[in-house]
Amino acid sequence: MISIVPLTSVAPSAVENLLDLAFGADRHGRTAYRLREGMDASPALSFAALDEEQRLLGSIQCWPIEIAGPDGAVEPLILVGPVAVHPDHQRDGIGRKLVDTALAQANGTDSEPMMLIGDAEYYGRFFGFRAEATAGWELPGPVDRDRLLVRLRPGQKVMREGVLRPRMLPTAATDRQLRPA
Ligand SMILES: CC(C)(COP(=O)(O)OP(=O)(O)OC[C@H]1O[C@@H](n2cnc3c(N)ncnc32)[C@H](O)[C@@H]1OP(=O)(O)O)[C@@H](O)C(=O)NCCC(=O)NCCS
Repeated sequence: MISIVPLTSVAPSAVENLLDLAFGADRHGRTAYRLREGMDASPALSFAALDEEQRLLGSIQCWPIEIAGPDGAVEPLILVGPVAVHPDHQRDGIGRKLVDTALAQANGTDSEPMMLIGDAEYYGRFFGFRAEATAGWELPGPVDRDRLLVRLRPGQKVMREGVLRPRMLPTAATDRQLRPA
């Protein structure tokens, strides 16, 4: 029996170990990591899969990023991933449960479009992520265009040309600096 819980209830070191197992310890150089550099994962959209003994078998993290168009317009996006399942438990439905949970949460809160870099056969087939709208996107590193995917809910649109980057949210420190003394 697998339970899905907020990722904030799991030790960060356990998540890092799982990601090393699923993707290899050299994963940090990947373009997706550069895309959310300096950001914290969105707590409401990040989940863990635990077994009955509370062992971590899978995780999903989502990150606030944005796309900046050539005309200066900026739109928010959500970067999905990494999605990781422990090698001993892959293909048991855990990945699908994790992605379904994050997507349901995003649908319920009418969130920004969700994008990821991943296998189209998996993320397209089960969750409706597609590459068509991403051909004009620029990223801070190399990317296989077939793996650059976005999921749009009915009626939802996304900027077709622009540069993807971490979302420039004002920090608490910046807020304080801006507040009149
Ligand atoms: C990719 C991953 C998240 C999928 O999660 P999972 O729990 O193993 O897979 P699920 O049980 O949810 O889904 C199983 C189905 O997806 C298919 N599938 C799983 N991984 C796939 C992949 N990378 N590409 C295409 N199809 C895939 C399986 O064939 C299976 O299909 P079936 O039901 O017709 O037999 C997981 O295997 C993982 O962490 N892999 C290591 C990291 C990795 O390689 N990621 C690549 C994607 S970015």
